[in-house]
Amino acid sequence: MEIIKNKKTLQDFIERQKEMGKKIGFAPTMGALHNGHLALYEEARKDNDLVISSIFVNPTQFNNPEDLKKYPRDINRDILILKNSGLVDAVYIPEVADIYPEKTESQHYDFDGLENEMEGKFRPGHFDGVGTVVEELFRQVKPDNAYFGEKDFQQLAIIKKMVEKKQLPVKVIGVPIYRAENGLALSSRNQRLHEDRKEAAKVIYNTLNKVNDWFRTVTIPEIKERVTDIFDHEQGMKLEYFLIADEDTLKETDFFYKDRKYRAFIVVVVDGVRLIDNMHLD
Ligand code: PAJ
Repeated sequence: MEIIKNKKTLQDFIERQKEMGKKIGFAPTMGALHNGHLALYEEARKDNDLVISSIFVNPTQFNNPEDLKKYPRDINRDILILKNSGLVDAVYIPEVADIYPEKTESQHYDFDGLENEMEGKFRPGHFDGVGTVVEELFRQVKPDNAYFGEKDFQQLAIIKKMVEKKQLPVKVIGVPIYRAENGLALSSRNQRLHEDRKEAAKVIYNTLNKVNDWFRTVTIPEIKERVTDIFDHEQGMKLEYFLIADEDTLKETDFFYKDRKYRAFIVVVVDGVRLIDNMHLD
């Protein structure tokens, strides 16, 4: 596995691969890697000659400096995980100056309103930061296919929108949420949770399954009440939001219309750790 630590080396590498006609699959990360990340590379392996990872804790997408400081970092462990997986041909680990040559600032994006829903309300500026770093990484890595997890469903939708609006020559592919055995969606942040809290947090996935059972038979206000009630009885957990949204517009709905696709979205704070999850309803 190639370890590439600056933009110039990456450019030479990509140029050689393109000359050889290699098809490139790419999935960016912020490190603290786990099997959820590896699921992206497994998917990428199927359709590409070359699979590239990147690890970069992007400062502009953190709206809270404390969160940025606390973000788990262990680059040697991450490199080992990628090597041992045997799924990745090269990992790009840029410095801030490789991504932000002038100012460490976001560009402003119009994602047709997708950025104003859910996470956009709770994390102002977050998606401008995500758009900025992903667009720059796409321009440097030049992937044919790029893979993003459905765990961050709104992020996936926003990246698809950016690619469409800017007509970037890359296909964006969503990968299903990789879960622990108890159903908890794997995330870099939940590595900060104690085992017993991870076990308790399975209530999030169980609740989403219940919501799916209630889909189209119970009204949405009633579903919301039931979900609120579940978390009112969970010690040390705070429901930040639960809502059901149209899968295409991400707009919250109070009513199920025929012929539309819906998805339930939830954020719960467990011991100060913000856990995000979602489920397609069918
Ligand atoms: P990060 O949180 O490291 O996630 C990198 C990618 O892994 C994202 O596409 C995310 O959705 C996916 N992922 C994480 N956990 C997953 C799981 N349990 N199942 C499936 N996919 C999972 O998301 C980011 O980084 C950043 O915002 C980034 C896109 C790299 C831009 O900085």
